[in-house]
Amino acid sequence: MLKKWSLVGTITISAMLLGACGGESSKNEDANSSNNGEKKVIEMATSADFPPFESRDVEGNFEGFDIDLANYIADELGYELKIQDMKFDGLIGALQTERIDMVLSGMSATDKRKENVDFSTEYNHSGEMFITLKDSDIKTIEDLKGKSLGVQLGTIQEDGAKKIQKETVDFEMKAVDNSNVLIQELLSKKIDVAYMDKAVAQGYIEEQGLAGFDDPTSSSPGMAVAFPKGSELVDQVNEILKEAEESGKLQELKDKWLKEE
Ligand code: ARG
Repeated sequence: MLKKWSLVGTITISAMLLGACGGESSKNEDANSSNNGEKKVIEMATSADFPPFESRDVEGNFEGFDIDLANYIADELGYELKIQDMKFDGLIGALQTERIDMVLSGMSATDKRKENVDFSTEYNHSGEMFITLKDSDIKTIEDLKGKSLGVQLGTIQEDGAKKIQKETVDFEMKAVDNSNVLIQELLSKKIDVAYMDKAVAQGYIEEQGLAGFDDPTSSSPGMAVAFPKGSELVDQVNEILKEAEESGKLQELKDKWLKEE
């Protein structure tokens, strides 16, 4: 009796294992393309130099608000999410050539970018801030005169700084392609001021013992998911964002990653 049961047990377990293996391999096949040729993997790109929106932990894993949101979106769509790390100023080009399906990278939905890509509805809004060393005497826009100001290449802050330079006060400008490098430049006194999104600036200020002040001139649009022009994902993702707003999911992610402004 005992023997019989254990035999049945063995067979059942083997069958389960086989089933699990079979399930796994067919899932992998499905992940790349389903029967109707539809893509089951969604390729997202980001510039993982922008905590708390996107960065890498010590093991190199992506983390942050945008990463959680992208995973949520992919889950809701029933896709597997793949993330590529790129320089921020290469993201729009990657969308235009359709090398990727979407971008979540703290990207502000500007009219200029809308000429080349489509955006979802905005999921977060952050103003801009100027960051300085703690003992700096730069406290207002006027104090920027003759100083050197750093921005990340391809960001709205690069455009914004050019505008301030032209209209308000003259300074030297330096654009680097990585926002962590930007902070390093500030800490090593290669620049006097760094100009970036407020939510990100606040984190660096706290973490690195820096100082800063709000940009009174900025009225930038909020952050949104970007897609290749005409992508069918736009409507689907808007629907998901709407649900996330209504269900409190979006607020949950904000509470997890972002500070009150
Ligand atoms: N919000 C700014 C922009 O859209 C900066 C975004 C930078 N993002 C990043 N992951 N480095 O231009």
